[in-house]
Amino acid sequence: MIKIKNLNKLFYENSKKEFYALKDINLEIQTSSFVVLKGVSGSGKSTLLSLIATMDKPTSGEIIIDNESVAKLPDLHSSNFRAKKIGFIFQSYNLFNELSVKDNISIPLIPLGYSQKQIDEKVLKSLEIANISHKKDELVLNLSGGEKQRCAIARALVNDSNIILCDEPTANLDYDNSIRFIETLKELKKLNKTIIVATHDPIFDNLDFVDKIINIKNGIICE
Ligand SMILES: Nc1ncnc2c1ncn2[C@@H]1O[C@H](COP(=O)(O)OP(=O)(O)OP(=O)(O)O)[C@@H](O)[C@H]1O
Ligand SMILES: [Mg+2]
Repeated sequence: MIKIKNLNKLFYENSKKEFYALKDINLEIQTSSFVVLKGVSGSGKSTLLSLIATMDKPTSGEIIIDNESVAKLPDLHSSNFRAKKIGFIFQSYNLFNELSVKDNISIPLIPLGYSQKQIDEKVLKSLEIANISHKKDELVLNLSGGEKQRCAIARALVNDSNIILCDEPTANLDYDNSIRFIETLKELKKLNKTIIVATHDPIFDNLDFVDKIINIKNGIICE
C-alpha cells in the first residue's frame, strides 16, 4: 500500500517567491489498485508521481510504501528502492538518445545483478509488450515520438516492479497503440501491480478496471 500523509512540496520561483506545487496531500492507494490522476496542466501531477517514485524529496510530510517510509531516504537507498519497486514512464521519456532501444530498456536491470541471458530475455519480453520489438537495434535519436513513448513503456516494465507510475503515457501514441497500452495495464493489474496514471487523455475515462480517480487542482486533492 502507498500511504501519503500531509505531503507538501514547495518550490521557490525565480529563487524567491514561494510556490506550493503540492499542498497537504493525504492519500491511500491500495496494493493492486489502478488509479487515474487527473488535473489541468501545472496542477502537480508529475510532482506527485516523482515524490512517490523517490526521485525528488518533499518539503514536508510522509510517503510510506509497503510499510517503509521513503520520503527522506538517502539517495543511495532511494535508487535501490526505485530499482526494485518502481517502474516509471516519464512524461518527457528520459531516454538516452545515443543508445539503442534495447540498451535503454536494459538499463534498469543493471543494478539488479541479472546475467546477460536473463537481461536479454527480459528486454525481449518488454519490447514485445510495448510493441517496439521491430526497432530494438535503432538509436532512440531516430525514433518517432510514439516509438520513444513505447520504448519508455518497455523500460518501465522491464524490472517487473510492483508499482508502475505512468506520466501521460499515451500523450504521443496513436489510438491503436493507446488501446494496446490500456490492455497491457489491465493485464498488469491482474498480476497485482499497483498502477497510477497521470493523464489528460479521455481514453482513460470510463475504463471498467479503474479503482480510483484522483482529481488534483493547484496542488490540492479534490475528492
Ligand atoms: N523545479 C521546479 N521549480 C519551480 N517550480 C516547479 C518545479 N517543478 C514544477 N514546478 C511547478 O509546479 C507546478 C506543478 O508542476 P507539475 O509538473 O507537477 O504539473 P503537471 O500537473 O504534471 O502538469 P502537466 O499536465 O503540464 O504535465 C507547476 O506550476 C510547475 O511550474
Ligand atoms: Mg506533468
